Amino acid sequence: MIAPSLLSADFARLGEEAAAAHGSDWLHVDVMDNHFVPNLTLGLPVVQALLRATDIPLDCHLMITEPGRWAPAYAEAGVRNVTFHAEATQDPVSVARDIRAAGARAGLALKPGTPLEPYLAILAEVDTLLVMSVEPGFGGQSFMPEVLEKVRTLRGLVDTGHLELLVEIDGGINADTIHAAAEAGVDCFVAGSAVYGAEDPAAAVAALRVAAAA
Ligand code: DX5
Ligand code: ZN
Repeated sequence: MIAPSLLSADFARLGEEAAAAHGSDWLHVDVMDNHFVPNLTLGLPVVQALLRATDIPLDCHLMITEPGRWAPAYAEAGVRNVTFHAEATQDPVSVARDIRAAGARAGLALKPGTPLEPYLAILAEVDTLLVMSVEPGFGGQSFMPEVLEKVRTLRGLVDTGHLELLVEIDGGINADTIHAAAEAGVDCFVAGSAVYGAEDPAAAVAALRVAAAA
């Protein structure tokens, strides 16, 4: 699956930018609160407007403190996948349960330096595990290959445990880095600058699919 990140799109033309990435599986929307990360983007009203503007399912990546307070509202609005950060809450299980109860898939995100081991016991509580391959906050950073070890561990656990868990990666994914991530076992690739920095975003999405399989 390919999920273009609108962080690298033109924020004045979000509806058109969503349409320009046709052929994508999900559209990735980065919600930043200038507190959990040192950057500020958009919130629920803009996400609601995007839901009206596109048929592509939305994948909201909440880089915010107190995710339990906000995440269910994104699910209720109609977002397909609502991902929150493990580092932002003491109680990831209840946040995930609230997201599922509100009708969305629940995703748990781990920063590059956050180990997987403390969360192994709760993998069944989430539908998506987002492995960050850059420090969250900004697009256009370089891919951190060291996180692929975490992806490999996760892939093994998902396959042997027959878990219904999607492995997603976010940060620095482009035609040069996507193959290594695919080989390590990623199911869903977020790409911001590689899609919206391209002349033709839909062609860039198609090229990423080819590069992942190459
Ligand atoms: C970073 C965001 C990413 C970002 C990726 O904090 O979570 O989704 O848009 O951008 P690229 O693909 O340019 O690294
Ligand atoms: Zn993201």
